[in-house]
Amino acid sequence: MRQSSLVVVANRLPIDDSVAPDGACEWRRSPGGLVTALHPLLRHTPATWVGWAGGTGPAPRLPDVDRVRMQTVALTAEDLRDHYEGFANSTLWPLYHDAVEQPEYHRRWWEAYQRVNRRFAEATAEVAEQGAAVWVQDYHLQLVPGVLRELRPDLRIGFFLHVPFPPPELFMQLPRRAELLRGMLGADLIGFQRAQAAHNFAQLVAKVLELPATDRRISVGERVVRVGAFPVSIDTAGMAALADRPDVAARARRLRQDLGDPDHVILSVDRMDYTKGIEQRLKAYSELLASGHVKVRDTVLVQVAVPSRERVTQYQILRDRVEREVGRINGEFGRVGEPAIHYLTQPFDRAELAALYRIADVMAVTPLRDGMNLVAKEYVAARVDDTGALLLSEFAGAAAELPQAYLVNPHDLEGLKQGLLSALHADPEDVTPRMRAMRGHLHRNDIRAWARSYLSALDEGGSLLTHITATG
Ligand code: ADP
Ligand code: F6P
Repeated sequence: MRQSSLVVVANRLPIDDSVAPDGACEWRRSPGGLVTALHPLLRHTPATWVGWAGGTGPAPRLPDVDRVRMQTVALTAEDLRDHYEGFANSTLWPLYHDAVEQPEYHRRWWEAYQRVNRRFAEATAEVAEQGAAVWVQDYHLQLVPGVLRELRPDLRIGFFLHVPFPPPELFMQLPRRAELLRGMLGADLIGFQRAQAAHNFAQLVAKVLELPATDRRISVGERVVRVGAFPVSIDTAGMAALADRPDVAARARRLRQDLGDPDHVILSVDRMDYTKGIEQRLKAYSELLASGHVKVRDTVLVQVAVPSRERVTQYQILRDRVEREVGRINGEFGRVGEPAIHYLTQPFDRAELAALYRIADVMAVTPLRDGMNLVAKEYVAARVDDTGALLLSEFAGAAAELPQAYLVNPHDLEGLKQGLLSALHADPEDVTPRMRAMRGHLHRNDIRAWARSYLSALDEGGSLLTHITATG
């Protein structure tokens, strides 16, 4: 078994096992924020990525992707149901997102969560070289740091949570709260998107485990675990260069023509997830159409909503409701050849997404709760001419970094409608300096800066950092 000095552990691998239209097996980049963040970073780094390839049955053998070795962890059908769809996405995901859907608690799911976390930790222990740095990602794998520390005390272990970490009054609902906190404390460094999340974590550790804890340091016996906020980002220069390509610009012009050359294009790009506020946004849009504040003649909404976690009931219910509502709005307000909403559920390649960002006069990113939201950052990066208005939820992690966006509370329907109108009718003299400031921020705080700050904290000046910063 070949070993690496840097090992990333994430539930998903950056490529997915999918079936091509002709029935052949093919690999494609998996959608979602975690892969978007880590893929460009590791592209030229000799590292191993431990993860799941998206199916059930024996682990497929995957080729290296660029210089990154893929180490697959197999999930059985039962693991998929009880770990991924169960504990990860029907217990932790809703709980960590303000319980906007009811979290469910089942003992069988917890057993699967423990079992799968152990399997990931064992696979990692095999591929990590002596003294390697291991970077564990996200809520699916919160027990991995603890198990890995038992198996391999020589490793330097980092954990990063891409989603929000909830306030104590919510987290305290979890039947196995103490074990989860202890699992995370196996790490040397625990990173969150926001300082508030680090604070919530420290408070919980003090309350549930009765350990001395501040928002920066927690003592666990002889060890000190460091805690901090490291807001994740994107490959800003990469997205800007893509959006600036002549073929992408030409594609954008064509898309705008295909939409009927409207005065205003509003765009939303989400995974089909109840945390993304899609229904609230549609309701706001429908009311603006009904009141005549927005007219199908001159304004179009493009809603991209790629299906996600499709076997989980709450996601199925959401998709049905969204599709019914889009149908109703188009039936009521659309005209022949002029739908009110262009609704697309397909995955797109990066160039097509960049072209869509280029035609969006307003980008509506209005989640009810989101750890960061990289779509908002991608839009800003793609606006190479400093135009375009970003309508952004206060409850997205990105709002803390992009205060120049048009900020809204998506729970407040009237506020959402008002925000949409303000963004639609904003004066270019107001829009441009806002966009310029946001672009400047994202060029200074891109994915490399994120990795540098996290890995230098984890590695304390070791060789790890040179891997990431010297390349790409
Ligand atoms: P999350 O991690 O919850 O999915 P983010 O907004 O942080 O949310 O990240 C979503 C990522 O998935 C972005 O990089 C975005 O470009 C990508 N994405 C979203 N929808 C699509 C789609 N239809 N096709 C391809 N990529 C998509
Ligand atoms: O950051 C949120 C997240 O859950 C990532 O871990 C994941 O890659 C992405 O959303 C997409 O979700 P899934 O892996 O369930 O398709």
